[in-house]
Amino acid sequence: MDFGLTADQREVQALARDFAQAEIEPHASEWDREHRFPREVFARLAELGLMGACVPEEYGGAGTDFVSYVLVLEELSRADAGVGVTVAVHTSAVTLPILSFGTDEQRSRFVPPLARGEYLGAFALTESGAGSDAGSIVSRAVPAGDGWHITGSKQWITNGRHAGTFLLFARTDPEVTGARGVSAFILDADHVTITRDEEKLGLNSSVTNDLTVDATVDADRLIGDENHGFRIAMSTLDGGRIGIAAQAVGIAQAGYDVALAYAKDRRAFGTRIANFQAIQHKLANMAMEIDAARLLVMRAAWLKDAGKPHTSEGAKAKLFASEMARRQTAEAIQILGGYGYTKEFPVERYYRDAKITEIYEGTSEIQRLVIARSILGERQPVAQSENAQ
Ligand code: CAA
Repeated sequence: MDFGLTADQREVQALARDFAQAEIEPHASEWDREHRFPREVFARLAELGLMGACVPEEYGGAGTDFVSYVLVLEELSRADAGVGVTVAVHTSAVTLPILSFGTDEQRSRFVPPLARGEYLGAFALTESGAGSDAGSIVSRAVPAGDGWHITGSKQWITNGRHAGTFLLFARTDPEVTGARGVSAFILDADHVTITRDEEKLGLNSSVTNDLTVDATVDADRLIGDENHGFRIAMSTLDGGRIGIAAQAVGIAQAGYDVALAYAKDRRAFGTRIANFQAIQHKLANMAMEIDAARLLVMRAAWLKDAGKPHTSEGAKAKLFASEMARRQTAEAIQILGGYGYTKEFPVERYYRDAKITEIYEGTSEIQRLVIARSILGERQPVAQSENAQ
């Protein structure tokens, strides 16, 4: 067992860290306050190859492994979690599933513009009545000529307003309820209409949209097998959750960095507050929990790179890292006291940003369900039917 990063992984990590600290972190508070999507940053990330880090070079990517990609997400999120989620959804929720489940033609047509950052990707699964219960989506795709007519509404779609390529899920078999009978489609921006910009607690430099679709597309927009798209969604989320866990680690690390520097500087009762055991215990807990979360993230990413099952390990990483980030960014505020509650320091932003990592790409409750199913080794029903005795 080797806990060290390879030279290549360290190089990608340093590239992302240097860029994030120089060109993202200094603007993050302003973007947060102004709710500004920093489009220019993604063009710069594309120049560095970081809009398709783990995509093979033949498809326009940088050809890194998945471990390197999650290191990039951690560094971006440490500077600005909104930038982190934009890249995470674009890459692991759109580009990678097209790469994994697309035909040769779909891969060569749709992946390079995404990997080169010419288009941003959006993952359109959730609907107003289908969040945790993703299998209950009602958007429809019906055969039309040689292709499909797709109608429906999607909610909380990260990147929606700025995306050029959508991975959208719709029901192709109306006779079946639940997760079966769903298919996945690759749509363009002009196939959808953005109907709403969400106002959020945090992640204000990212966009979250409602959209509607009413479009006829060619048959080659169906990705994977008809009626088996839910497996694509689930396997996409298996990888995506590792990225969100890395995002949570990055946010927590940022909170720790500020809290540590403040504790060494701030004086009370005639000494630096870092000399107080109460503060030392907080810093020790932060350092330990960030370390533990990062190890869970790295293990899950390593399993994915090795082509091994990682559903449960990704869920554990996301569950622990997200709850840890919420806990420890709150502790960072506590160390800064009144200053932590103000906009003079960024820790209140970290706290607001951390909260969403417990919700999107599957709530903590869903992660526990995924882990429990793996422990019990059998498919456990989510709920009893309302009509059951
Ligand atoms: N990999 C591949 N296939 C999988 C799978 C996995 N990890 N998990 C399940 N499947 C397959 C099953 O084998 C089954 O396929 P068949 O019917 O062909 O056998 C099918 O998917 C249905 O599986 P389940 O019966 O387990 O489905 P379920 O209805 O019981 O629910 C769930 C599963 C885990 C609760 C799922 O609905 C879920 O993950 N919910 C959370 C949704 C979620 O995470 N949404 C995130 C939205 S995207 C987002 O947040 C992005 C962003 O903006 C940041």
